[in-house]
Amino acid sequence: MKTRITELFGIRHPIIQGGMHYVGFAELAAAVSSAGGLGIITGLTQPSARDLAKEIAKCRALTDKPFGVNLTFLPSLATPDYPGYIKAIIDGGVKIVETAGRNPEAYLPALKEAGIKVIHKCTSVRHSLKAERIGCDAVSVDGFECGGHPGEDDVPNMILLPRAADELSIPFVASGGMADARSLVAALAMGAEGMNMGTRFIATREAPVHDNVKQAIVAASELDTRLIMRSLRNTERVLINTTVERLVEKERVLGQDLKFADIAEEVSGIYPRVMGEGEMDAGAWSCGMVAGLIHDVPSCQDLIDGIMAEAEKLIHRRLEGMLAGSA
Ligand SMILES: Cc1cc2nc3c(=O)[nH]c(=O)nc-3n(C[C@H](O)[C@H](O)[C@H](O)COP(=O)(O)O)c2cc1C
Repeated sequence: MKTRITELFGIRHPIIQGGMHYVGFAELAAAVSSAGGLGIITGLTQPSARDLAKEIAKCRALTDKPFGVNLTFLPSLATPDYPGYIKAIIDGGVKIVETAGRNPEAYLPALKEAGIKVIHKCTSVRHSLKAERIGCDAVSVDGFECGGHPGEDDVPNMILLPRAADELSIPFVASGGMADARSLVAALAMGAEGMNMGTRFIATREAPVHDNVKQAIVAASELDTRLIMRSLRNTERVLINTTVERLVEKERVLGQDLKFADIAEEVSGIYPRVMGEGEMDAGAWSCGMVAGLIHDVPSCQDLIDGIMAEAEKLIHRRLEGMLAGSA
């Protein structure tokens, strides 16, 4: 399939694996890229710029296909060494960066000068337009369904994607709630040039996370996520567990008086324990409503091949068949 996104990134299929904390290591990024999609290493999961440089080198040894690095600009107590991470990306010859969170404008000149294509993840049309204005090459439009940080506007993709299509000139991919060929074909119909998946890629053979995490996603339904940290204006969609229940109760009791310190125990530093050790109740970890559509743990190759084969069938048999039926 050829779209503006496959052309922009030099990839075979319009499928991107979004950056994910403690999931987006070289093994997963390489598996997605080798399967014809775009794999992405999560920059800030690496404790230093030097570690990121090593992860990039590792990914390059595993695949000869293009892959990217995610740089997330989220509110955090200590500002990471972004210039150092960017240097590691440039020196490592990476040509695609996925930015997310705050406005990446300050870092764009360095990236653009190095010939890097930037796709910025946005949860609203106004932020997407801003990304276009400041010179991003593409956006990843993340609907309310998404795992991670859906923003504060709560607009689901059925509305957000056509709105983005109406306003944007640069290409965009649909993100949030994407799982299969139906997601891809629907996203293309709504004006996207491809799709970005997070949660779906965690439940794959190559995702370097504990099997408990994959099984939790397979077992979860679309009703099993919760939104946390809304009153802090840092809303995150996470999978329900006993720790999240405790956190949600604290939020209910404290209301607008809630401070980050009140819930630090439930959210800080828990990713290595969940993803690495499989401690499923260690804290709140991002997961999309799309868990309700995930029933297996395939290889990335099988997942992507299956999506592309089924998408062709959907378009040629189901959709064209409907048109032929009406002729
Ligand atoms: C466990 C997990 C960790 C994530 N970490 C990040 C991150 O560090 N940076 C980022 O930009 N997005 C992060 N995301 C968001 C994904 O890149 C992607 O936008 C999102 O998962 C799409 O929604 P979906 O899960 O419904 O596919 C994370 C998502 C999950 C599920």
